[in-house]
Amino acid sequence: MATRLHDLHSTSLEDPETFWAEAAEAVSWSRRWTTVLDRSRAPHFHRWFVGARCNTCYNALDRHVEGGRGEQAALIYDSPLTGQQRTYSYRELRDEVARCAGLLRSLGVERGDRVIIYMPMVPETAVAMLACARLGAVHSVVFGGFAAQELATRIRDARPTVMITASCGIEPNRVVPYQPMVQRALTEAAGIVQRVVVLARDAAPWALDEECDVDWHAGMAQAEPADCVQLEATDPLYILYTSGTTGEPKGIVRDNGGHMVALAWSMKHVYGVEPGEVYWAASDVGWVVGHSYIVYGPLLQGCTTVLYEGKPVGTPDAGAFFRVIAEHGVTTLFTAPTAFRAIRRVDPTGALIRAHPMPTLRALFLAGERCDPDTLHWAEEQLGVPVIDHWWQTETGWSIAANCLGIELLPVKPGSPATPVPGYDVRVLGEDHEEVPRGTIGDICVRLPLPPSCLPTLWQADDRYVESYLTAHPGHYTTGDAGYMDDDGYLFVMSRIDDVINVAGHRLSTGAMEEVLASQPDVAECAVIGVKDALKGQLPLGLLVLNAATDTTHDEVVADVIARVRASIGAVAAFKTAVVVARLPKTRSGKILRRTMAAIANGEAFEVPATIDDPAILDEITLALRGIGYPPGPQQP
Ligand code: COA
Ligand code: AMP
Repeated sequence: MATRLHDLHSTSLEDPETFWAEAAEAVSWSRRWTTVLDRSRAPHFHRWFVGARCNTCYNALDRHVEGGRGEQAALIYDSPLTGQQRTYSYRELRDEVARCAGLLRSLGVERGDRVIIYMPMVPETAVAMLACARLGAVHSVVFGGFAAQELATRIRDARPTVMITASCGIEPNRVVPYQPMVQRALTEAAGIVQRVVVLARDAAPWALDEECDVDWHAGMAQAEPADCVQLEATDPLYILYTSGTTGEPKGIVRDNGGHMVALAWSMKHVYGVEPGEVYWAASDVGWVVGHSYIVYGPLLQGCTTVLYEGKPVGTPDAGAFFRVIAEHGVTTLFTAPTAFRAIRRVDPTGALIRAHPMPTLRALFLAGERCDPDTLHWAEEQLGVPVIDHWWQTETGWSIAANCLGIELLPVKPGSPATPVPGYDVRVLGEDHEEVPRGTIGDICVRLPLPPSCLPTLWQADDRYVESYLTAHPGHYTTGDAGYMDDDGYLFVMSRIDDVINVAGHRLSTGAMEEVLASQPDVAECAVIGVKDALKGQLPLGLLVLNAATDTTHDEVVADVIARVRASIGAVAAFKTAVVVARLPKTRSGKILRRTMAAIANGEAFEVPATIDDPAILDEITLALRGIGYPPGPQQP
């Protein structure tokens, strides 16, 4: 590790209180903290900036207006899917947000209340999030690609009284009407949401229910602007649900104070971005990348953020990202490697990249999934700027390992997100909880306490938090990823240690899909595994054991389970393949050997587990998978 980074990293671990108190000077507090890091509930629970009062929306908007950035662009909405573009200055965005906060207040929303936001990539989504932050209400954004069941699960857990939604999302191949999904979710999770604010979009209608629904525009026109409510730094800003091993998603809680401090620090030190510059995270607000780096991070730093409603390819072509960069003067692009794989597939020579001169572009950051070296090299060659892989997760809200451009650029090692970021004491541990030798794969963990912004707990589930993250290796947070550290301290993140899969940079639970498969009446038993895919990284594949008595054909059952996953979880699960098998391989204690089946499907070497009940079943699985083309031949990128 180079000297300056090394010094900062060491200081951050030796004296986190001083390190983060200095970083906290970058944001504005209405009352300062009494304790920088409260360790009184250690070893499991830590809280940052206890006693401080602040407001995230004030820091993201009002502070910049008061400081002279009122006329600077805060948010550029660029939507090739609707042909629209709109720019909001900091002043305009603050005024919209204040009005939306007033609208929410008129519906009874106050500090601590939850608001569920189920929206497409429109500026009103950011307005709604910031309006909640302004009031101290806790938002929970649900990605628009999720369908009714996922929405209902989140409503049942967060118990919001108000939902903010839109009449539709827009995908390149279709309009996605939200009303049927919202109605189904509200029926499944009955009696919780009282009022629904609806943004009507031209592409699809919404039949307003006069008693329950409020039209966004009518409501905004009547609303009195609301001011920022001063909150405890430890008050929750949002809950973002993410996939775990079971079908029950985990409600990641983010606080106000620590989150602001870490994000502001990361904008400067990880991304090397200054106030006034244009920063673009080409993701979706429904994911953590969107929360941190479409909405909060860039605005806290006084940057211009781009909210893009489109795809890397097909809207209208593979030059779309580069058109946006050139047109809006983007300095820093953040996306998932899968987006570059999609672009490369359509435009292998980069002709559409060269068609858009991008003198402002300084760096491309990639995250969301492992970045394969091939994609990294291609992007480097095409863009001529540093391409930086960085690794983090919903739980942390910002990078655990990254090449910190704002401190100093380390040599890039393809396949590695470089070294741990200041604040994170990363250790690769073996089964005995001791660090494994360099170069050896183990569980990637972070020694407690975690730095600011990382989850203080799960929403109303302290025990689940401890059990899910802090029990496997005492004194450490277990990230759920496996990998190794090399002799230079570079991390290599190789795979998940649980049953979470990563499809096109989207984190999905195979457990949730299995629950849907199991609900099909002909299915007696099932398993979902992640198989490799050249474009999306991984895809889910279902294995089904049917009830002996069924008359339904295999093809019918397969078609039915595919339709059910799409209707319940959503199209984003990309669940398109399933096969009927006679039996599933299990251990003698009855645990399904998903990993072994995934290795077979991926054509990887594997050892027959010593605990297997009947090894002959593996041959049956091999044959069944071969019958549907797994493992595939060499795939083109
Ligand atoms: N609302 C409704 N449906 C959605 C949706 C949304 N917000 N987002 C995706 N979907 C649908 C898609 O239309 C598609 O449906 P289909 O089965 O009818 O084609 C399905 O979900 C799968 O979507 P996606 O994974 O986006 O695949 P794709 O084939 O449409 O596009 C990529 C592939 C690589 C272009 C695309 O995945 C992409 O842009 N990825 C970027 C990754 C990213 O932003 N990751 C976030 C973390 S950084
Ligand atoms: P999410 O919580 O949706 O952001 O997903 C986080 C998970 O995605 C991580 O735990 C990893 O499994 C994976 N991931 C994210 N970024 C990277 C990366 N740069 N390299 C490898 N895996 C990554």
